Amino acid sequence: MRRPLVAGNWKMHGTRASVAELIEGVRRQVLPGDVDVAVFPACLHVAQVVEGLAGASVMVGGQDCAVEPLQGALTGEVAASQLQDAGCVMVLLGHSERRQVLAESDQVVARKFAAAQACGLVPVLCVGETLEQRQAGETLAVVGRQLAAVIDAHGVAAFSAAVVAYEPVWAIGSGLTASPEQAQEVHAAIRAQLAAADAELARGVRILYGGSVKAANAAELFGMPDIDGGLVGGASLNADEFGAICRAAGS
Ligand code: 13P
Repeated sequence: MRRPLVAGNWKMHGTRASVAELIEGVRRQVLPGDVDVAVFPACLHVAQVVEGLAGASVMVGGQDCAVEPLQGALTGEVAASQLQDAGCVMVLLGHSERRQVLAESDQVVARKFAAAQACGLVPVLCVGETLEQRQAGETLAVVGRQLAAVIDAHGVAAFSAAVVAYEPVWAIGSGLTASPEQAQEVHAAIRAQLAAADAELARGVRILYGGSVKAANAAELFGMPDIDGGLVGGASLNADEFGAICRAAGS
């Protein structure tokens, strides 16, 4: 009932030339008809990617947006309205790299969430625990807090037009993947938290897994009942590998 989504987060990678190659590679993929596919290039390359993927069934999103929805005096930031104007339909928010390196707080992420939705973008809210937090048995509490910050600020109804991505920090770029069972446990807890406020809405929310997803482990992860696709970093920079991951999400 939930349509899978496979999203490629290109992070701070690429030059105009390498992005052009990646676009060509993605265009060559045979993508399953029953899976939504999206890519998130660096802001600088959004226009190039929107143009390059025109006519392909691939959505384009931003990797972040400003706390203020509309363009204005905020040096260095990009407004959700500008992303929307450039052809983006989604935006990643609260990625752990931003939470950790740039000290982005739950409150800032919640403001960005509202800014994105005000401009018609679908936020992909990233949540996840560090290795220390997992080892201390705090995984569900940490993820629950990150999710609650947005629910408390904007109400659970905001998730009728949003996606959640569970990305354990220890699994990102490390080659360590959460086992399907480890991921499922957290995904089920996220859905239960949403369901506590609105059971029907919770059944429809897509929850992606991210953290060293590759073609070799994708099908097993996507086979779990509450895993509705993936947010793919490193492997999404290889078009053939990304295409294989997208196909693994199909029926
Ligand atoms: P990797 O797939 O490289 O582990 O990155 C995951 C991620 O952070 C996607 O947002």
